[in-house]
Amino acid sequence: MSGTELLEIRQLTTVFPTRRGEVRAVDGVNLRLKPGQLLGLVGESGCGKSTVLLSILRLIRQPGQIVQGEILFRGRDLRKQSGKAMRAIRGKDIAMIFQDPLSTLNPVFVVGEQIREALRIHHIVSGPRWPWPLDIAVRQNEKKRVLKIMEDVGIPSPMDRYAAYPHQFSGGMQQRALIAMALICGPSILLADEPTTALDVTIQAQIMDLMRQINQSHGTAIILVTHDLGLAAEFCDTIAVMYAGRIVEQGSVDQIVTDPQHPYTEGLLACRPRIQQREQRVQPIPGNVPDLAALPVGCAFAPRCKYARELCAQVSIPMFSVEDGRFSRCLRHTDFRIEPHLGWDEIVRL
Ligand SMILES: Nc1ncnc2c1ncn2[C@@H]1O[C@H](COP(=O)(O)OP(=O)(O)OP(=O)(O)O)[C@@H](O)[C@H]1O
Ligand SMILES: [Mg+2]
Repeated sequence: MSGTELLEIRQLTTVFPTRRGEVRAVDGVNLRLKPGQLLGLVGESGCGKSTVLLSILRLIRQPGQIVQGEILFRGRDLRKQSGKAMRAIRGKDIAMIFQDPLSTLNPVFVVGEQIREALRIHHIVSGPRWPWPLDIAVRQNEKKRVLKIMEDVGIPSPMDRYAAYPHQFSGGMQQRALIAMALICGPSILLADEPTTALDVTIQAQIMDLMRQINQSHGTAIILVTHDLGLAAEFCDTIAVMYAGRIVEQGSVDQIVTDPQHPYTEGLLACRPRIQQREQRVQPIPGNVPDLAALPVGCAFAPRCKYARELCAQVSIPMFSVEDGRFSRCLRHTDFRIEPHLGWDEIVRL
């Protein structure tokens, strides 16, 4: 691992046994995240984005499991950590905003107490916790921190809202509460799974603005999972495009948006609606995402790809290094160079 990496994922593979066969939801994923970096993980529904995030925190439920790979956080492989060590890391060093806000918030507890929970679990505020009433000072200090973070994330009148129940919050406020919950322990990585999908565009812009402020003021690195390439391009520095469990293209936002190297990225860009160009119609990508339990040998995108050649469906396609820090999993790169550090065992000869 190079010294500057905060998180490095190597060859991560996560599978779910199903009646249809084994679903390879994440298949040989490599990702790197530096402190303070904003990485977008983009792809259509069902391509494995949430599974990558849940695998990082080792939250894949049985019978699903991580079958291969390393998840190096500050050089320590999270796959080798004990359950206790993982509980200490979750929420404190790596926090997650889950895809569905309402299922994350417990309807029977007030929001303020739910935000305070992480402080309590990780003993962030020191002092005697027992016997009563010695713990009052600790609880008061914890509450002060909760009120401060509620204010920071833009929840109005935090004093009143502390004792409100989740159903008394609007969708945007619930999302802010979740962000507060994720940030209260000052994590170095925030995993944000579709944090604005259910929100209208103005609230979406506010939430993204808030996350950017957090990134700038606390240096929190963020992995933003979204199906919206436009949103990722606005927010992130680097983008990884995922298709059928694999990263198919990776690069800086400029590289991805101005000069996509993978036909799937090209397709995603073409189907972005643009108000300024009304006469230009949105071009959907033909076909559907393949069944992850029955993936073809070759490129999973080949059946939908206008550039596909016979070979694309016949051989396993490695990741090609297009230029420095830029990768694409497409046979169009004929003058390729295989990146040895990525450990590709499949080498294609043309
Ligand atoms: N617990 C599970 N059991 C069986 N299959 C699962 C399970 N969780 C996820 N999968 C499968 O893994 C694949 C990837 O799912 P995942 O939720 O990671 O996709 P996603 O990219 O986050 O999609 P979305 O944008 O809809 O949230 C899908 O085919 C899904 O059906
Ligand atoms: Mg998801």
